Amino acid sequence: MREQFLQVKNEALSLILAANDRQELEDVKAKFLGKKGTFTNLLKTIAKLPLNVRPELGRLANEAKETIEATIATRALELSREGENEQSQWIDITLPGKKPQIGHLHPQTHVMKEIIDIFKEIGFKVADGPELESDHYNFELLNIPKYHPARDTQQTLYLKDLFDKKGDPLILRTHGSNMQGRIMEKVVPPCRVIYPGKVYRYEQVDASHGFEFLQLEGLALDRDLTLTDLLGTFTHFLKRFFGPQTEVRFVCHNFPFVEPGLEAYVTCAVCKGKGCSFCKKSGWVEIAGAGMIHPNVLSMVGVDGKKWQGFAFGFGLSRMITLKYQIDDLRVLTNPDTRILEQF
Ligand code: PHE
Repeated sequence: MREQFLQVKNEALSLILAANDRQELEDVKAKFLGKKGTFTNLLKTIAKLPLNVRPELGRLANEAKETIEATIATRALELSREGENEQSQWIDITLPGKKPQIGHLHPQTHVMKEIIDIFKEIGFKVADGPELESDHYNFELLNIPKYHPARDTQQTLYLKDLFDKKGDPLILRTHGSNMQGRIMEKVVPPCRVIYPGKVYRYEQVDASHGFEFLQLEGLALDRDLTLTDLLGTFTHFLKRFFGPQTEVRFVCHNFPFVEPGLEAYVTCAVCKGKGCSFCKKSGWVEIAGAGMIHPNVLSMVGVDGKKWQGFAFGFGLSRMITLKYQIDDLRVLTNPDTRILEQF
């Protein structure tokens, strides 16, 4: 009887250790410890043995059963660990792949391209100019001599101890109008040019002000150009850009380099003119400055004002982008966080 217990125990243990998966293990368990299992049957025979041998055999049987159960538990744990490892190495090639992240154009670039296309359709060419500029082109040639009060409205960033070849102080351009003089000095009219680019002002940064922002300025020089041409060009462009339902409003404004000068407003694209926090409840958003090029400016750059007239304009490009995408904070445009940029 003793030998029989040891034999069954050893047989059970070797089968448990050889079990290759959970099912095999369950089968071995049933084979020995199940209701009709080999070991269970053996236990039942103890009861029929003479009283004097029962206690010793009973102890032996219990020890053997505990060993078998403990070995089953250890093997089960081993098998589940092996299973986990297998799973992590297993690749389901039928699953759809991870989408690779592809970059896309920044909303600023989108809007810039769109605007350039509209102006190109009506005969404008595109020019580029320096952001590091001399006082001469940024102010003097625009009828803004030193100590002119208009300088105060464009908080200028001067570059310490930096001058151009003529000894003129260098600044970060405060507006795209620095290109007016540069273009008119060179071109032979008639001409139509736009010049998009970054400008800088010493501003306290908040939701609606940045120390660097984008402008899109431009000019046209031709015979018999009048304010009506400017208003028509503006209305055409703004309706194309913001949609045909957009209304345009012009208000007189003084810029030293144009006469007459004006500011253009469009119906707020956020509230459709009803009034909201974006347009400060007015229903209108200021979008550009413009006017007929001042005779002083024409003569300073050597254009005969009797023969040629011109209009000039400057759009707040950053403002147009925020309006178009209904972004209520200008700082979003310079935030490199891809979670923001992916939304456009
Ligand atoms: N340069 C002006 C500005 O930055 C805009 C403007 C351009 C006004 C051309 C009139 C003519 O505010």
